[in-house]
Amino acid sequence: MSSAASDPVFADRRLNDWLSSVGLGIEYSRAEANTLYFRDESDQEVAVLDHVCGFGSLIFGHNNPDITEHAKSVLDQQIPVHAQLSRQSHANKIATVLNAIVRREVPGGDSGYAAIFANSGAEAVEICVKHAELERRARIVKLTDDIARHIEEAREAVGAGRATVVENPYVPVGPGRDDREKLEELIAEIGRRNAELVARGPVHLALENAFHGKLVASVQLTQNPHWRLPFTALSSSTRFLHPDRPEEMKAAVEELRENLLDIVVDDGAVNVVEREFPAIGAFFVEPVQGANGMRPLSEVSAREIRAVCDAIGCPLIVDEIHSGMGRTGAFLASSHMGLRGDYYTLAKSIGGGIVKNAVALFRQDRFRPEFEVMHSSTFAKDGLSASIALKVLEMLEADDGRAYRVAAERGSRLKEMLGSVRSDFPEVVDTVAGLGLMVALEFTDQTRASCEVLREKAGAGMLGYVVAGYILREHRIRVLPVGPVGNSVRFEPSIHLTDADIARTESALRDVCTILRDQDGHRLLP
Ligand code: F0G
Repeated sequence: MSSAASDPVFADRRLNDWLSSVGLGIEYSRAEANTLYFRDESDQEVAVLDHVCGFGSLIFGHNNPDITEHAKSVLDQQIPVHAQLSRQSHANKIATVLNAIVRREVPGGDSGYAAIFANSGAEAVEICVKHAELERRARIVKLTDDIARHIEEAREAVGAGRATVVENPYVPVGPGRDDREKLEELIAEIGRRNAELVARGPVHLALENAFHGKLVASVQLTQNPHWRLPFTALSSSTRFLHPDRPEEMKAAVEELRENLLDIVVDDGAVNVVEREFPAIGAFFVEPVQGANGMRPLSEVSAREIRAVCDAIGCPLIVDEIHSGMGRTGAFLASSHMGLRGDYYTLAKSIGGGIVKNAVALFRQDRFRPEFEVMHSSTFAKDGLSASIALKVLEMLEADDGRAYRVAAERGSRLKEMLGSVRSDFPEVVDTVAGLGLMVALEFTDQTRASCEVLREKAGAGMLGYVVAGYILREHRIRVLPVGPVGNSVRFEPSIHLTDADIARTESALRDVCTILRDQDGHRLLP
């Protein structure tokens, strides 16, 4: 149904105005592979090369014919799309395939991985937040049970005159007071301090410039302050660590350390000892940081993150929502850096470009089976999405993993082209980063440009959008900005990217770089 200019606008009113102001307010009418089409004023179909590809959710492109045919045939069979709380063996089929792939790429997860399904990436992340808290709570209960037992042992020992309360920083132990009273005072003081700590939520660890979603808990793991700060009161806080400073990680974790107080009877004396409290819930990591300009984690940082998690016993959650499903030339981008997760999240391309789906995987030896009932969602694990996920996995694995090889080859060809643009325009292109078909080109800082337009747009964090609007208008290529200050342009097309697509993209980028080099910013404006 078309809408007239006078129709009231109830959705996207402000967003659409803003998109139009930067030249991105186009309505697409058709899509296939790496191409989006819109109709111009004379109703002619105009093709646009799409490097955004559903924010990287289309590893096999828009409306892949094998996937849509499969979906149609599944619907024709009248499969039960929704049969909640019945046996849904499709869930186990997907989990079995995922287990085989993950264990092939990241040896060492011998117990296998339990799967919990979701509808979106952020939801899969939140499922991990919840499960990590369940693990943490179990550790806290174990600790507090131990402490309660030790308190009873101390009461018995003091009551029988076998032990006395000795000097401690919590209650006075001067002469003339009954040891039983002193012990009860000590127990009360320890109880107060411990209760305060036990009631506290966890602190999570993530990397600077992380992106893990925008729901209540996941937005706190997403560093961007505009999205995160208004909602800090709603959820646990996050300590962001620098991805390239592994040497600082242990010290940062040490600062977050908290201890519960315990009582031990030793050689006739009641002593207070500290027991490490699980203050940290989990460490969330993207193997390739999308919002940080597609920067892959270094092997050194990956090793350090694993070591930190092993030392404190918290789960390492590898968020492969963006980088997984073959995009970087392997099923898991983390396999490139030898990073083994305790939990994994997958979404985006698992939906085959036509449905919503996501999954969180948990190492079986950490998985708490009660979670299967504690967490659920009406639409998660539905029959149609499950069937499409199986099809996508089959396509990724076909011909001995041809899709992974193509993603790696096309990605390196694309990155090579971006590198050649960078070497010809060193004054305007700062870096080219990424892995496989998840790459970005970062422009140099233009906030002090001599051209007023560039200076102003860069200062407002809008340079990337203005560049994207220009490339769309002049070259019929769709890109979007990414990166902490929106100075990078993201490229994450499907594996169907052709040499001709890469050549077209190169000439568009050389055009933009020339404008930036010549400080001709007004040419970028609509
Ligand atoms: N984690 C990562 C690493 C992501 O890249 C995203 C989404 C999410 C979680 C949240 O997934 O949108 O399905 O809820 N990234 C999009 C992007 C927004 O721009 O690449 P979601």
